[in-house]
Amino acid sequence: MKKAKWEQLMIVDHPLTKHKLTIMRDTQTGPKEFRELLYEMTLLIAYEATYQLKTHEVSIETPICRMTGEKIEDKDVTIVPILRAGLGMFEGVLTLLPNASVGYVGLYRDHDTHLPIEYYCKIPTVQEKDVFILDPMLATGHSASKAVDVIKQSGATGERIFFLSIISAPEGIDELVANHPDIKIFTASLDERLNERDYIVPGLGDAGDRLYKTP
Ligand code: URA
Repeated sequence: MKKAKWEQLMIVDHPLTKHKLTIMRDTQTGPKEFRELLYEMTLLIAYEATYQLKTHEVSIETPICRMTGEKIEDKDVTIVPILRAGLGMFEGVLTLLPNASVGYVGLYRDHDTHLPIEYYCKIPTVQEKDVFILDPMLATGHSASKAVDVIKQSGATGERIFFLSIISAPEGIDELVANHPDIKIFTASLDERLNERDYIVPGLGDAGDRLYKTP
């Protein structure tokens, strides 16, 4: 895992994430393989992002003797995919934390202002919980910032909010860190820049379209 110029950002640049992300970026990769890879990438990124979760001691009996083990209270975790591309990531986190609760934030980009407008929001209790917000592409950072706003307004504290993405643009990290310097961001790649249509370069195109084969 690599630290970047932003202290809130961790780049999960493991050989496995580099390998899988290269296949995801390739236009030859179809939606089935893309979905499977996004799931696997999420497992690998979430593995790193969950490092700071607290454990509590439990007494168990092994076949040999009694011992004190450690467990995570995964009921105290909430996963919030940003619709729609974040849906491709939530199964991955849920595989690792099967008792986590799941909320959803739906945002679309206003045609004129280019700013995110909330069209759907269903958030379970997030007070005193660890919250993992999911969106594969952290592009302008506007949707990401808006989603964090919503989660904070629901009662979560920034120190316990983790934003997980697959690819990030420097512009998006700047925006998210400026608005929410107290959260942590995990990504597999910090790409070069945004293009004039706010797509990440080199990126992987529209993640929602790649997942669900929207023409
Ligand atoms: N959203 C995407 O799906 N792709 C981008 O490149 C930017 C935002």
